Amino acid sequence: MQSAPIGVLDSGMGGLSVLHALRRAMPHERFLYYGDNANAPYGPRPPEEIRALTARTASALMERGVKALVIACNTANSAAGDMLRRQLPIPVVGVEPDLADAHERAGGKRVIVFATQATLALPLYRDMRQRCCPDAVSIPAPELVMMVERGVLSGEGPEAFFREKLRPWPADELGAVVLGCTHFIFLRPVLSSIIPGVPVFDGVEPVIEDLRATLSRADALAHSGAGGVELLSSSDEPGIRARMRVLLAAEL
Ligand code: DGL
Repeated sequence: MQSAPIGVLDSGMGGLSVLHALRRAMPHERFLYYGDNANAPYGPRPPEEIRALTARTASALMERGVKALVIACNTANSAAGDMLRRQLPIPVVGVEPDLADAHERAGGKRVIVFATQATLALPLYRDMRQRCCPDAVSIPAPELVMMVERGVLSGEGPEAFFREKLRPWPADELGAVVLGCTHFIFLRPVLSSIIPGVPVFDGVEPVIEDLRATLSRADALAHSGAGGVELLSSSDEPGIRARMRVLLAAEL
């Protein structure tokens, strides 16, 4: 059990940002990453479709004998997290918008949330916003997902997007920004260069803590060995693995 890999899934490239952090936090673990790039983006799809796609990706990882599943996609976790937790015989953890921590740090100033259309519309986020930060401004950002899928992590595209969307709030009115989509974590350096000093929350740390605690309780943590990563994708586009490796190695 301890030496079995941990499955990590996303609609495409976004979850590689989570995998990057997992690798650093748990260096002895083996990770099997599945990007459903052939079907990305998930954000504009209806919940039933996201659930079906996520279930298929989870099965592909289950067939490879993973000991736990990390849903490294806010959209997939919002639509299918509870379903997979009920159905699968292994621990399932998932990333969600870190609104509570952002609200606490914002000190009464404005909290902005960037996420996919689906994440913003599904009950997980709606309930969370209602509960802990009803004044948060929710901004759908499907354009950013496609930029990251294409490997665009800097330059005019993401910069102009953030400048335009944040224009209504002077920097001193901004309390915190939540990246409610794992693709956007790759764009944090661009965002932070536009709003220096404003804290940015990505929800990854709670996932790592949750995974570590869950595996530890089951005595399934790997304590030795070199660990490693295997990258899988539903897309057969030439060069996709190379692009995944570049993203996994990106400075975050
Ligand atoms: N990376 C995903 C997320 O965290 C979704 C992007 C998409 O496929 O629309 O929400």
